[in-house]
Amino acid sequence: MQFPDTLVFQGYAAPVRAEVDVIDLEVEGTLPPELSGYFLRNSADHAYPPRFENDIFLNGDGMMHQVRIAQGRAHLRTRYVQTEKLGLERAAGRALFGAYRNPFTDDPAVAGRDRNTANTSVVWHGGKLLALKEAGRPMEIDPVTLSSVGVHDFGGKLTSQAFTAHPKLDPVTGEMIAFGYFTQIVADNTIEVYFIAADGTLSRTETIAAPYPSMVHDFLVSRHHVVFVICPMICDWDRVRAGHPFFHWDDREDTWIGIMPRTPGGAAQVQWIKAPRRAMQTHTFNAWEQDGKLHLDQFLTETGWLSQFPDLNNPDTVEKPPFAFRWTVDLADLAAPVAEHMLFPHIGEMPMIDLRFAMGKTRHFWFGTNNPKLGPMLPWGPKGPPFTCLGHFDAETGALDFFYAGPDSSPEEPCFVPRAGSSEEGDGWLVSVVGRRAENRTDLVVLDARRLSDGPVAVIRMPVRIHEGFHGIWVNEAG
Ligand SMILES: [Fe+2]
Repeated sequence: MQFPDTLVFQGYAAPVRAEVDVIDLEVEGTLPPELSGYFLRNSADHAYPPRFENDIFLNGDGMMHQVRIAQGRAHLRTRYVQTEKLGLERAAGRALFGAYRNPFTDDPAVAGRDRNTANTSVVWHGGKLLALKEAGRPMEIDPVTLSSVGVHDFGGKLTSQAFTAHPKLDPVTGEMIAFGYFTQIVADNTIEVYFIAADGTLSRTETIAAPYPSMVHDFLVSRHHVVFVICPMICDWDRVRAGHPFFHWDDREDTWIGIMPRTPGGAAQVQWIKAPRRAMQTHTFNAWEQDGKLHLDQFLTETGWLSQFPDLNNPDTVEKPPFAFRWTVDLADLAAPVAEHMLFPHIGEMPMIDLRFAMGKTRHFWFGTNNPKLGPMLPWGPKGPPFTCLGHFDAETGALDFFYAGPDSSPEEPCFVPRAGSSEEGDGWLVSVVGRRAENRTDLVVLDARRLSDGPVAVIRMPVRIHEGFHGIWVNEAG
């Protein structure tokens, strides 16, 4: 077997496939003694060469990464998520499932079997760690051993085959709010919204209809509302059946904002209003209400994700970078135009806030980014241009601050870890995986979250490469 010679499978993006344990990683600097817990994240790491050479990186098998930090020491563990898909393919010794979310491209031997790769994110809620992919159901993972417990369907209450990789946790009530789209795999415009109590009980499902069937990768939840931004990254099932890419950008459609009250029966009160302009929401910071206004803080791009899915009508369009925007809705007058302003004048993606303050107004915004003033851009990978920096925007002072990771180095999504014992917003650490591309190796850096340009307080050096990932979390030792 051999992986294709494409950007997705070569160089720093090449599948790692190794499940490793490294006890006592090298540490440069000093790990804060109060930093005690688990950094956990998910990645897409193809276990087998794909059935089709043009496969995309989003279609890799879920591989969990864990860095356990305690008493100034750090340890690495990586494990595949043991999905039904991986089990079937390992039994066969080859890929059986085909293109991204396209069951028509599978080996007939696996018709009707679970295609979930569980590769996008993780969430810790109700005493359970769940590996998530928007095209599948949650997979429960043991947070210490990273062994797979199995599909988690909330005691049979989740009838959908899909559960977002971006659920929101209410820091006041402990509730988890999530959703599923294309709930029975086939593209349609149904969205189910799930309300999961602090103890992990799926207590309520609301069902709404989107304007059209499209990718719904992230969403927003404020204290009183659930908000969807529906973007024309469309899925046409006839095109999927014909073997075309799963999504396409269609600039004949508008972008819509759907606003649903969080109260029981909220689905009957959902209101759809036109967004200020056609845009693709990539990821969200937060949503919050103040003085009758609903604020939506998010990254937007004028194009879809063209590095992954084509523009149907303008095949030569080049993907434009995302910028952070606040959309403000007047809840007393939904017919009024939605106001837009740029949060900060710098490109970015992979947003992060101090999640203890989610659903309220926040001061601190972190993100992955590039800054040519600090160092050159890196060659494009399968996700587009790798980050070279992490950014911090202080909305109170208006200051932007950057951490430049060094030559041939690529930070990934930042994760905020509050300083133990402190309740001040932003007081804590920013943790990020950093690819050391020239060395084919990976580090984890720990920064003072409000002083990024000071550089890391500690660098945890891994003797191996772990695959570029997507989304991660911090779980304190005590859970
Ligand atoms: Fe995401």
